[in-house]
Amino acid sequence: MDAEDPLEALPWGDMHLALATAAQKAERDRLTHEAWGSPLTVEQFHQRELRLRSHPWCREGMRTWLLLDDASQVLASCETFHTDSYLRGPDGVASRGVSHAIASVYTEPALRGHGYATHLMDLLATRLEQEPGSSHAALLFSDVGAPLYRRSGYHEAPAFDWHLSAAGGLSTHAVDALLCDGDVPLMMERIQRPEVPFLLWPSAAQIDWHLERERAYAELLRRPRPEACGATVGTSTVLWAMMARYGQLVVLMLDAETVEDAVALLEAARGVAHRAGLSRVVVWEEPSTLAWVARVPGASRVARDGSLPMLRPLRPGLPAAERVGFSRALWV
Ligand SMILES: CC(C)(COP(=O)(O)OP(=O)(O)OC[C@H]1O[C@@H](n2cnc3c(N)ncnc32)[C@H](O)[C@@H]1OP(=O)(O)O)[C@@H](O)C(=O)NCCC(=O)NCCS
Repeated sequence: MDAEDPLEALPWGDMHLALATAAQKAERDRLTHEAWGSPLTVEQFHQRELRLRSHPWCREGMRTWLLLDDASQVLASCETFHTDSYLRGPDGVASRGVSHAIASVYTEPALRGHGYATHLMDLLATRLEQEPGSSHAALLFSDVGAPLYRRSGYHEAPAFDWHLSAAGGLSTHAVDALLCDGDVPLMMERIQRPEVPFLLWPSAAQIDWHLERERAYAELLRRPRPEACGATVGTSTVLWAMMARYGQLVVLMLDAETVEDAVALLEAARGVAHRAGLSRVVVWEEPSTLAWVARVPGASRVARDGSLPMLRPLRPGLPAAERVGFSRALWV
């Protein structure tokens, strides 16, 4: 190893994990802007972050972690968010616990390539394993492929999307209702939870966090929000949010009883997307919805670019990542 290498000068033992103060979070916002801020200015991005951090879902369970050296210099950072999860025991009974969704893993350019992000992920997993309470798993959505996070015990799940073009002539005749933000809690109560060994399941507050992002971008980019955040037909439901920067309406949750319901709900999504000036509806492929979405006319399947779901168990008894469903609503 080169004598100039920071790893040589700084043994792993001298690095530690800490929770960021408000001032340190603000400092990180200014640095991470280069990765995630566009098209916002540095100040707008900081305001967006402040706004999201004050959302009820974040106040409940968001933490900003720092990897510090012995002089308390920040080497890398990331965030974790509490996500509800349910693990079925050998008796078949599902017990509720918490999983930790990790986001915004960041090392500033001058410090990259020295293993800091890897060390941060290792220390964080150990810390989460040791915390009291029922921690099930850590999950993340990688934009840099699998290898970096595989080193720290994460395994990827397959990631495919279904794309539908936005369509003129809002065809809401086939749905019973379009939904507004206030409908989300009731809708999340009626959406069927899949009966699976391990379920990562967003709360209504987590869904509203996506809508808070939508509200923030609509204001900052001065563009209207879509007229609805979802639709229902019979007992089937879809919830979606605008990703203004990408011209997309992303389906957060889809609970369709039949292929006819899936077609009706996604038609409504296409119409709402068109009227909001978006070009595409994106549906993440999940085992529970694949059969329906694959039969929706005009839907095309593409390998996902970025947002690769990865899972690291924090206790024994979890299924392999490829057997776990990752809805778009879980993305952070
Ligand atoms: C990704 C990032 C956090 C890595 O930080 P780091 O401290 O340099 O990470 P480490 O030194 O532990 O590991 C570096 C490895 O990550 C890989 N990596 C970094 N950026 C990558 C990218 N965009 N695509 C694929 N791999 C990447 C490097 O190739 C390197 O691999 P190697 O060790 O096999 O050569 C840092 O490059 C960064 O902040 N990037 C911008 C923000 C970002 O994309 N974050 C990840 C979001 S999922």
